[in-house]
Amino acid sequence: MRLTLHVWRQPGPELAGVFVRYDMADVSPDMSFLELLDVLNQQLLARKDDPIAFDHDCREGICGACGMVINGRPHGPQRATTTCQLHMRSFADGAELWIEPWRALVVDRGAFDRIIQAGGFITARTGSAPEANTLLVPKRDAELAMDAAACIGCGACVAACPNASAMLFVAAKVSHLALLPQGQPERATRVIGMVAQMDAEGFGACTNHGECMAACPKDISIDFIAQLNRDYLKAVVRRKPQAVRADGGAA
Ligand code: SF4
Ligand code: FES
Repeated sequence: MRLTLHVWRQPGPELAGVFVRYDMADVSPDMSFLELLDVLNQQLLARKDDPIAFDHDCREGICGACGMVINGRPHGPQRATTTCQLHMRSFADGAELWIEPWRALVVDRGAFDRIIQAGGFITARTGSAPEANTLLVPKRDAELAMDAAACIGCGACVAACPNASAMLFVAAKVSHLALLPQGQPERATRVIGMVAQMDAEGFGACTNHGECMAACPKDISIDFIAQLNRDYLKAVVRRKPQAVRADGGAA
């Protein structure tokens, strides 16, 4: 296959970037997208040019590191597929590809880590594996929790959303634990903490465009956003009013 790549190159966050054109010949249709960039980087290094910097880790669709916008779509044109699992046979011979990083998260996904630190965990001692039937989980809840747990934190939902909203990511993380018995003790503090951190990071609000679900490589449903909104509302309504000090501050 022959391909023409236009890759966004930017020396640093404060410096202007530009699309640089690379013509590639003899591309194997069985290469993954990242392998294509590996080959291009070998060619760049051979002629003493800077290689293209891109995130990757597992290359198996499970870590969420490999975020790229390909022809305007986070993770490229194939539905429910991460960039590392996208193969060149998905493109026509002679295709022109425009490759950019995520915009709202660029290559720093620390905001997602801070949202998880704000409540996306349980503090119960897990000890050794319990007998499976001591904690009964209804089949429907178990299935839904697994669906939500499939989120790999890649950030494609934020990249696709016109508001740069992180609601799908937060909804998946909140709902995964909210559906399981182990997640109940901290259910209210978790949702309040994670939504507060999401707001503090500056992500936009959800206005139901649905672009997040269309871009998600793990098919996370926006139904989880509705679940997040219900959980958040209940938690806020039931929250004990904070004691107020004589000087007007919170006790
Ligand atoms: S919800 Fe989907 S698109 Fe968003 S971070 Fe999780 S896996 Fe990625
Ligand atoms: S490199 Fe891990 S999901 Fe793509």
